[in-house]
Amino acid sequence: MAFFRKNKKNEAPVNVPEHIAIIMDGNGRWAKKRGLPRTAGHRAGAEAFRRIANYSRSIGLKYLTVYAFSTENWKRSEEEVSGIMKLLGRYLEEALADMEKNHVRFCFFGDLSRLSPELQTLCRDAQERSRCYDEVQVNFCLNYGGRDELVRAARTFAAQVAEGKCGPEDLTEEAFSNYLYSAGVPDPELIIRPSGEMRTSNFLLWQSAYSEYVFMDVLWPDFGPEQLDAAIEEYNRRNRRFGGT
Ligand code: FPP
Repeated sequence: MAFFRKNKKNEAPVNVPEHIAIIMDGNGRWAKKRGLPRTAGHRAGAEAFRRIANYSRSIGLKYLTVYAFSTENWKRSEEEVSGIMKLLGRYLEEALADMEKNHVRFCFFGDLSRLSPELQTLCRDAQERSRCYDEVQVNFCLNYGGRDELVRAARTFAAQVAEGKCGPEDLTEEAFSNYLYSAGVPDPELIIRPSGEMRTSNFLLWQSAYSEYVFMDVLWPDFGPEQLDAAIEEYNRRNRRFGGT
């Protein structure tokens, strides 16, 4: 059922989408502006994520998908990559400790096999132990790339055809969706990219077919409930036609 809440300015009802996805961009620039190392920007970015995850639950959002580490982010310095991995590990440890308080369900999109064994265990534990919660589901995109996801899905389907389990004619849009990391998750109605960049950067290529994009000038560490509200209000002003009139 759609969840409505009041718009602060004119009291018009605001429709909170079921699924919002966010490209958490601008951590490096945030740090640079302050003369700090990039890792400090990621630390502030992790705080911004905490704020938004809590707020998402309070407004009744069902799915929050965040781009935490892409298949291309391995090109960054070893120091920066290990800094981000440490932050993720720390966050998941805290989330596991606070699980019964926060009731967040965790899911991971991406090829986790390239992560450290410790981080893989944390991801697995968080996913398994939070399976029972149904307030908000956070999908962490980790070592995720939209093209990589599509190629893996195509390979899995081709392997099943080769084994004689199905034929090419069985592949429909709906069937293909079930080979993706996001199987069972509705497509995001709204995708937000802060930091002023206007690219999709290999994020949710299949799932974003009809998503509304909102690009914002704020850097991710400065992103909070006020910015999420503004993006949702902008989404409410859009006229979604899905190819119709
Ligand atoms: C993009 O900003 C951000 C990333 C590649 C990493 C995102 C990671 C986090 C927010 C921390 C992860 C931890 C948790 C708990 C979610 P950028 O570094 O590309 O910024 P720039 O474009 O300004 O250089």
